[in-house]
Amino acid sequence: MDSSRRPPLRVLLLGCGNVGRGLVRVLTVERDRYPGLEGLDIQIVGISTGTRGAVASDSGVDLVRALSELERGGHFSNQNPDRVESDSLQLARELDYDVLVELTPLSIEHRGEPAISHIRSALERSRHVVSANKGPFAYAYRDLMNLAVSRGVHLLHESTVMDGAPVLNLARHTLKGCRILALEGILNSTTNYVLSRMEEGLALQEAVELAQLQGFAEADPTLDLQGWDAAAKICVLANALMGADLNPSDVDRQGIERVTAEDLQDVDRRGDRIKLICRASRQDGGVSAKVAVEAVPRGHPLWSVSGTGNALRITTDLMAPIVVVQDNPGVKDTVYGVLGDLFTVTESFDLERKGSR
Ligand SMILES: NC(=O)c1ccc[n+]([C@@H]2O[C@H](COP(=O)([O-])OP(=O)(O)OC[C@H]3O[C@@H](n4cnc5c(N)ncnc54)[C@H](OP(=O)(O)O)[C@@H]3O)[C@@H](O)[C@H]2O)c1
Repeated sequence: MDSSRRPPLRVLLLGCGNVGRGLVRVLTVERDRYPGLEGLDIQIVGISTGTRGAVASDSGVDLVRALSELERGGHFSNQNPDRVESDSLQLARELDYDVLVELTPLSIEHRGEPAISHIRSALERSRHVVSANKGPFAYAYRDLMNLAVSRGVHLLHESTVMDGAPVLNLARHTLKGCRILALEGILNSTTNYVLSRMEEGLALQEAVELAQLQGFAEADPTLDLQGWDAAAKICVLANALMGADLNPSDVDRQGIERVTAEDLQDVDRRGDRIKLICRASRQDGGVSAKVAVEAVPRGHPLWSVSGTGNALRITTDLMAPIVVVQDNPGVKDTVYGVLGDLFTVTESFDLERKGSR
């Protein structure tokens, strides 16, 4: 069958906040702006939220209406003919879909749940999964990946770390034969933004409030400031790229809550900058991970990463270190990471069809 005549990829979307709405927007009202998406034929057959209701339709949800209801009214309306009373787990278990897209929030308190259960339910039904939620990969990477492999389906999560910047794809697909020895990065945008503003003389609280005003920081920024988000991200990378079996509680973790503007000015006199640095390295036959406030010397590739920027330095046995820098990322980058993973699923569908002809 000609790939242009294939049936659309049927997607169940769990979570429709900033990223989910961004994804729906790109697939509907903004679609014409992105001609590169031509090869991606997606039909969203269900959307579930935590408190704003759920919609589902076998022939495809009316996305323009769903988006407008969420953006204008804050929830799916009772008059919406697609409205259903099922919750996320029910939809993951019962709806007919090809790919589950998991976009619910990271939960440290519940150790990656309920997202782990959402993903496990899809994999048990041999459905592909794409996720931007790092929780499942920080807490249950091996279990979920083993399940995906045993069912012969994709479990993709490019946007869990550095949004759409292709760090997982880069390491997995373009560094074949290299063994990753160490990872070093700035992986949390909020803390990097706060530290950059503090270098200009703002107090921590003022910088956090500015980050909230700009939409970079959550209303409750604790997970960022205490280094939990960064710890979850270095676990995802270490688990996915170094064969580790770490979760955020295993990480030697420090946040930025005690950093003062004076600390930043002190290191600035030496030409250094204070950064929240994530590390993973091989030690004693295992992998250990750390998140710590460090003075980064001028000339180091992470020194110049400012504002909401992120960066990752990958050290391998065969190649000289590679540095990926992400300049000023936004929600659209995360949306792109999800779309890139959906392309991968689409391409494997095309290959399967070709193989069965
Ligand atoms: N924002 C970014 O740029 C970015 C970057 C990289 C990764 N991520 C990750 O992507 C995911 C989504 O981020 P976001 O910014 O879109 O978060 P968000 O704005 O907080 O939206 C989260 C969505 O999940 C819903 N939700 C909560 N519990 C749920 C449940 N049990 N079942 C179904 N839906 C549930 C929420 O519904 P209610 O509103 O009704 O609670 C909301 O629709 C997160 O895991 C985040 O860490 C985000």
